[in-house]
Amino acid sequence: MEFSIKSGAPQTGPNGCVVAGVFEASRLSGTAAALDAASRGYLTRIVRRGDMRGRLGSTLLLQRVPGLAAERVLLLGLGERKEFGVSAFRDALRGAANALKELGAKDALLYPADLGVAGRGLPWNVRQAVLGLRDAFYRFDQLKTQKKPPAPALASVALAIGGAPVTLQARAAVKEATATADGVDLARTLGNLPPNICTPTYLADEARKLARQFKLGIEVLERRDMERLHMGALLSVTRGSHQPPKFIVLRYAGAAKKKPPLVLVGKGITFDTGGISLKPAGEMDEMKFDMSGAASVLGALRALAAMRAPVNVIGVVPACENMPGGAASRPGDVVTSLSGQTVEILNTDAEGRLILCDALSYSERFEPLAVVDIATLTGACVIALGHVATGLFANNQRLADDIRAAGEEAWDRVWQMPLWEDYQEQLRSNFADMANVGGRPAGSVTAACFLSRFAKKLRWAHLDIAGTAWKSGREKGSTGRPVPLLVRLALRGARAR
Ligand code: BES
Ligand code: MN
Ligand code: ZN
Repeated sequence: MEFSIKSGAPQTGPNGCVVAGVFEASRLSGTAAALDAASRGYLTRIVRRGDMRGRLGSTLLLQRVPGLAAERVLLLGLGERKEFGVSAFRDALRGAANALKELGAKDALLYPADLGVAGRGLPWNVRQAVLGLRDAFYRFDQLKTQKKPPAPALASVALAIGGAPVTLQARAAVKEATATADGVDLARTLGNLPPNICTPTYLADEARKLARQFKLGIEVLERRDMERLHMGALLSVTRGSHQPPKFIVLRYAGAAKKKPPLVLVGKGITFDTGGISLKPAGEMDEMKFDMSGAASVLGALRALAAMRAPVNVIGVVPACENMPGGAASRPGDVVTSLSGQTVEILNTDAEGRLILCDALSYSERFEPLAVVDIATLTGACVIALGHVATGLFANNQRLADDIRAAGEEAWDRVWQMPLWEDYQEQLRSNFADMANVGGRPAGSVTAACFLSRFAKKLRWAHLDIAGTAWKSGREKGSTGRPVPLLVRLALRGARAR
C-alpha cells in the first residue's frame, strides 16, 4: 500500500473513497461538515435518519454522493468527542481499515488531522494513521493453499492535511512510518512462521538478507565460536536440540564511527519446549513466538536502515531451540557463563535468561551507549501486566524514562517494574554463584534481577514482551511489538545528541 500526503479540501478531486468522521450524537467532524456543505446537506440528512450515530469504529458507506467528485464516502464513527484520545483514534482507524479492505476502491483519502488527537501534532497523527492501516492490512497466508481471502483492492491512500501546505514534516512522517511498518511486518512474519521453518539457521539467513539489502555489517557465530568464547550458559540451552545454534550480530551505521551504538539484544528461542522441565501440552505451539524479541530486533534494524536514520545500532541475537533429549541440560546442572559467573540450572524452562546473560556480556565489547534486551521472558509478566504493557526494568533511570517516553510516542507502551536488591536473594544457590530461577513470587522481577548481574558494566534495560509480542485465541498471531517503540527510542537518541 502506497501512502502520499495531500493538501486541499475533501470535496475536490476524484477519489475511490473519502473517509469522514462522525462523533456520537451524529455530530459531523470538520471533513464531514465540508462534504456536507458541498453536497447541500446530504450527509446531515443521512445522519438525521439515524443510519450513522457515531459509535466508535462503526462505518457507513455512501455511494455517489451528489456534488462530490469522490465515488464513495465512508462515514466513520468517532465516539464521544470529549473522550476522543489515542485509544479512540486507533479504534476508529481500525474500523475504517476493516471497511476499506472490503471495498473495490483502489484509492482512498483520509484526514488523520480530522480524526486526530489533540496535542499530538500532525507528524504523530500521520505516523499513527500509516501504522494503523498497515497493521490492519497485514496478512499471513503464505502457508495456506486453499481459501485464501482475495487481496484488498485498495492500493494507495492519500493522507490529507486540510488547508495546510504540504509540509516536509508530514512527508518525513510518512517515510518513517512506512519503514517502521515494514519492520513490524518483518517481525510479525518471522514470529508467525512455524518453528520447523523459522529455525536459528533461518533467522541467520534472514539477517544475512537484510545485511545484503540494506548494506549492514553482519557476523554469525557458530557453535564452535561460542565454545571458543566460553558462552557456557547459552550453550547449555541448545544441547538438547538438533538445530545448530546461531549468534547473530547485525550492525547499522547511520552516524559517525565515534558515536557509541545502541545495542539491541533479542531473545531468539525458535521453540521453547521447556527442555527436561517440559512444558504442559496446552498451547505449547505458542512457544514458536519465543523468538519475538529477536524478530523485533531484526524489524527495528530494517526500519532504521530503510529510513536512513542518523544513528548507530547493533542487533545481537542469540538463537537456539530449547528441547529435551539425551544431551539436554538437567535440573541441577551447573554451568559457567561468558562472564565467569556460575549458574545452577534449577529449571531448564528458564532458558531465556541463560542465552541473554551471555549475549549481554558479549555486548560489552561494543562500548555501547546503552543496551536494551527484548525477550518473551516470563509468564509472570503476563500475569502482572496482561497484554497491554510491556514490562520495563532498568539499571539506569534516564534510560528507563527514555524508553517510557518512546513507548508513549509510539503508543507501544511499557510499565516500569522494580529491580530492587531485596529481590536478589531469591536467586541464592547452595552450589553455584546463583540459581536460574527465584521461585513463584515476582517471577518477572527475579528474571530481570538475574540479567542485571550480567549488566553491571552497562547502561541497560530489559523489556519483557511475554504479554505483548503475540495474541492468542481466534486472532492468534504476532503483533510486531515492540518494533515501533525501538524505532522511536533510537530516533530519540539521535535527536538528543
Ligand atoms: N518463554 C517462556 C516465557 C513465557 C511463557 C512467555 C508463557 C509467554 C507465555 C520462558 O522461557 C519460560 O518458560 N519462563 C518460565 C520461567 C520459570 C521456569 C521461572 C515461566 O515463565 O514459567
Ligand atoms: Mn522457557
Ligand atoms: Zn522461553
